[in-house]
Amino acid sequence: MERGNFGSKIGAIMAAAGSAVGLGNIWRFPTECGSNGGAAFILIYLLCVFFLAMPVMVAEFVIGRSSRANAVGSYRVLAPGKPWVVSGFMGVLAGFLVLSYYSVVAGWTLDYTVESLTGTLLDKNDFAGFFGQFVASPWRPVIFLTIFLLLTHFVVAIGVEKGIERYSKIMMPILLLIIVVLAVFSMFMPNAIEGIKFLLTPDFSKVTKDVVLSAMGQAFFSLSVGMGTLATYASYFNKETRLVSSAVGVCTIDTLVAISAGFIIFPAVFSVGVSADSGPGLVFITLPYVFQEAFGSVPVLEYVFSGLFYILLLLAALTSSISMHEISTAYIHETFHLSRSRAATIVTAVCLTLGIVCSLSFGVWRHVTVAGMTFFDLFDFITAKFLMPLGGLLICTFVGWDMNKKLVASQLDSRFTPLLMILFSWVAPIGIGVIFVYGLISS
Ligand code: ALA
Repeated sequence: MERGNFGSKIGAIMAAAGSAVGLGNIWRFPTECGSNGGAAFILIYLLCVFFLAMPVMVAEFVIGRSSRANAVGSYRVLAPGKPWVVSGFMGVLAGFLVLSYYSVVAGWTLDYTVESLTGTLLDKNDFAGFFGQFVASPWRPVIFLTIFLLLTHFVVAIGVEKGIERYSKIMMPILLLIIVVLAVFSMFMPNAIEGIKFLLTPDFSKVTKDVVLSAMGQAFFSLSVGMGTLATYASYFNKETRLVSSAVGVCTIDTLVAISAGFIIFPAVFSVGVSADSGPGLVFITLPYVFQEAFGSVPVLEYVFSGLFYILLLLAALTSSISMHEISTAYIHETFHLSRSRAATIVTAVCLTLGIVCSLSFGVWRHVTVAGMTFFDLFDFITAKFLMPLGGLLICTFVGWDMNKKLVASQLDSRFTPLLMILFSWVAPIGIGVIFVYGLISS
């Protein structure tokens, strides 16, 4: 079967960075950072990125490019008959689950984008009440979830070069530009310095073992590692693409975007005097209020600022959802010999069904819980705190211990190979394992 390929190195990096940069950076990171001690959380997060998540990313790149197969097929090529393939199946499962609940939040973002641009969002008085009613509604979030999934479907179904690469190359620069404009604007708001201090002054009294587990989960979620997304993308890399420098580039862009999102949100939040630890509602309840307070006297600025912010969030969500869709689409397309568009349709239909279940868990099904969690929280817990770290541990262990050393070295082609081998074989598996087991025992 003819496989797709990224046509250029920059296209490959943009697609991988697009997969990483998403709601995780702009919605989840400030939420986690606000609730877990600001700069102290950022420091632990950076350690998790460098020592745990980045090695997993490089290992995924090695697996994907050397096998030129999907997340499951790669283990069948590289380690036939061995149980590593379980890690591939875990990745496909994680891709389905993350995409399902992710699209719910992306659907809310789409609604907020439309309301911002049509001027109806900031007319409201009670954003908490509005958001509570909106997410609990059985139909409106479902309509936006469906539209969002169809947009994702459209790009994936077109193909790797004409769809994923082309749209990533358009969307990522726009997204980065919007971030810079918004961060500069936000940092010049009155009293913004308090928000900047919050981001730069660590409060270690907030650091508990849960915070460390959350930082690791956030690093894996934000970099899209541990579920085979980046292994799937790397299977489309050409042989000129440098795996180590691409991974460093993607991790740098992703981290800068997350921290810049903090510099957009916290100076604005402190400027109008609302609480930094507002939780998941930060972006959907606190920020509209911030826009209203900050720019109420100049309505046009209110619309421009909020419109740009939600477009940013939407583009980020879209480039990530495309990559999660691609894990399962590539797997179904190549394993069951279905056409790409038919495989994509199956993925969209399953994710839409699971997404509707997650959406309803904010309304009519909010009392339906498993282990005390609604479906939405359950999917988030299973993926960010279970499947992704465990997947990452298996991926590193496979590359560090079982994969042919010469093949790994030829793929890495880097003077850092000995250091990377230590990270794959020892540092990342032990670090992930300890945090994972500790977190599970204590939760
Ligand atoms: N890596 C994606 C994000 O951060 C899933 O949103």
